[in-house]
Amino acid sequence: MLEARGLTIRFGGMTAVNNVSLSVAQGELVGLVGPNGAGKTTLLRLLTGVLAPHAGAVHFENHDVTRMPIHRRARLGCVLTHQIVRPFREMTLLDNVTLAAGHDLTRRPWVALAKVDASRARERAYEGLRSVGIADAADKAARSVPLGYLKRLQVAMALALQPRLLLLDEPLAGLNYHEAERFSDLLQGLNSDGLTLLLVEHNLGEVLRIAKRLLVLDAGQLLAHGDPSEVMARPDVRRAYLGEAHA
Ligand SMILES: Nc1ncnc2c1ncn2[C@@H]1O[C@H](COP(=O)(O)OP(=O)(O)OP(=O)(O)O)[C@@H](O)[C@H]1O
Ligand SMILES: [Mg+2]
Repeated sequence: MLEARGLTIRFGGMTAVNNVSLSVAQGELVGLVGPNGAGKTTLLRLLTGVLAPHAGAVHFENHDVTRMPIHRRARLGCVLTHQIVRPFREMTLLDNVTLAAGHDLTRRPWVALAKVDASRARERAYEGLRSVGIADAADKAARSVPLGYLKRLQVAMALALQPRLLLLDEPLAGLNYHEAERFSDLLQGLNSDGLTLLLVEHNLGEVLRIAKRLLVLDAGQLLAHGDPSEVMARPDVRRAYLGEAHA
């Protein structure tokens, strides 16, 4: 579904992502981990079109998307939460999801919302909120709901774009132990329903619980990939994390 070859990007003299090749098959739930500053966020941005690489290529399904901007890539079904989906704080959760489904995120939100075919779009948006477990707060303003709801809202907004591949950057950050567990269950459920996921996450416990395959990035390079427990048992991977702990 997704294939990257030799992806490289430099910021000034520093190579943030260095010759990274990877692939994600349809139906997978892949974890992408690595110490702080390893280049995980930068790699997600290269994969989704927020950044263009200095070298290398990205293919999504049968398209060469290397130079394709983020909105066109999203329309093909390759969606990064956080970048493309930012809730409007004064709007209700339902309005936010309705708006996200309109594929018109560049316009002024109220104007765009007025153009969305009212009843059907709202029905679908409500279904979206239900599928992430926050339909009870459909009529609340985004600014008034707790972080756990906002995180789920972000997923509902991304789902409104009907992605085939969803890339998430630290979706569990800021959640407590039980919230993180429930949120991982949600991601696992979406994956069981057929959504392919690439998940960047520092919460290794949850990643090891739900990811079927692991990629480890260190200093911009792919250090290891494969079965999650086997990868985490490797001495070089442990060293990469231990180095971070000592720092
Ligand atoms: N726009 C930018 N300009 C300059 N340097 C950048 C830029 N974006 C990232 N970097 C640098 O690239 C490196 C990789 O950063 P990145 O944010 O991708 O790491 P990360 O693995 O996501 O880290 P974290 O786990 O802390 O989120 C870091 O050294 C960072 O300072
Ligand atoms: Mg990051």
